[in-house]
Amino acid sequence: MAKIKLDIFRFDEATDTIPHRDEVTVDLPETTTVLDALEYAKAEVDGSISFRRSCRSAICGSCSMSIGGVTSLACKTSCGSAMEEDGSVKIDPMPNFQPMKDLVVHMDPFWDKYARLKPYLQPKDADSAHATERRVSPDDMKKLVDVANCIMCATCYSLCPVVSVDPAFAGPAAIAYAYRFIEDVRDGQRPERLAQISEDYLWLCAHCYACSYCPKHVDPNDRIIDVKRAAITDRVMMNERGPRHALVVARTIKQTGMLAETEVIQGTVGRFNIRGLLKVAPLGARMALKGKLPPPFLKPVPKVDEIRTIFDALEAPVR
Ligand code: SF4
Ligand code: SF4
Ligand code: FES
Repeated sequence: MAKIKLDIFRFDEATDTIPHRDEVTVDLPETTTVLDALEYAKAEVDGSISFRRSCRSAICGSCSMSIGGVTSLACKTSCGSAMEEDGSVKIDPMPNFQPMKDLVVHMDPFWDKYARLKPYLQPKDADSAHATERRVSPDDMKKLVDVANCIMCATCYSLCPVVSVDPAFAGPAAIAYAYRFIEDVRDGQRPERLAQISEDYLWLCAHCYACSYCPKHVDPNDRIIDVKRAAITDRVMMNERGPRHALVVARTIKQTGMLAETEVIQGTVGRFNIRGLLKVAPLGARMALKGKLPPPFLKPVPKVDEIRTIFDALEAPVR
C-alpha cells in the first residue's frame, strides 16, 4: 500500500469563475489505475469529484484526462507510473477542451469535426435494400484494421499543438477516421471526402508526432500522411498552399539533396501571386540582412543520386 496524493483540478462552470485544486490522499497500491483511485476518492472522500468513465478496460474512450501532464486513459494508467517524487499524481481535464465540471470537458468541437466527415460507409452501389453483402478482400481490409480500432477518446486531439492554436483544424482523430473511409474499397465518396478534409485544414498538420501517443496504436500522424498522399495522387485542391508546399519541398530535395528555401517560398506562395510574394518579402529582407538568404541556385550535394534513388523507391510524388 502507498499513500497516493491525488492532486485534482476542480471547477464547476455553473458556479465557479476560476478553477482551484484539491488534494485527496488515498491508501492504495501504486499499481491501482488512476480511474480506480478516483473512484475510491469519490466513494470514500468526496462524492462531488466529477469525471467520465464507463468500461474500465480501454474500450469506451470516456476516461481521457491529463495525468502527470500527459493526456492518457485513466483506466489504463497506473498511479505509480504517473507519480511525482512527493507521491502526488496531478490530474487535469484534457487540454484543448473547455472544462465543464472537474475532469469532464465539453466534447462538442471534437464530435462536430468528426461528424463533418460523415464517418459511415456511403457505398458505391445503390443497393439501399442491402440485399447482398459488400465483401472486402483481406488485403483491402488489412490497412483499415488499425484505424478501425479508434475508440474516439480524443487523447490525440488534446495533445495536438495545431488544434490549440487553430481550432478550425479537423484534428488527428477525424483525419484518421476519414482515411478509414477514403481507403475503403466499398465507399463511393472518396473525392468528396478528400475535398472535405482538405477544406478542414488537412494541410495544417505540422507532423510533430504528438498524436502518436494513442492508446490504441492508430498512429494518426501516419494516417494523415496517407490522406495527404491520397489528396496529391487524386489531385484534390492542388492550388492550395499545402500540396504546393509539399511538392516543391520534395522537388528541391530530389534535385539538389537540399531544401532550396527561396524556391520553396516561391513555389508555396505561387510564382505569379504578386500579393502573396509581397507579403513574404519582409521575411526575405530580414533573412538577407542576417546573411541567412540561401543562394537562388543550389549545387547538388555529392552522391545526390542516392537521394534520388530513395525518392524513386518510395514513389514519392514530385512536381
Ligand atoms: S486515434 Fe487514438 S488517441 Fe485519437 S481518438 Fe482514436 S484512439 Fe484516441
Ligand atoms: S502530427 Fe499533426 S495532427 Fe498530430 S499532433 Fe502533430 S500537428 Fe497535430
Ligand atoms: S473507462 Fe472506458 S476507456 Fe477508460
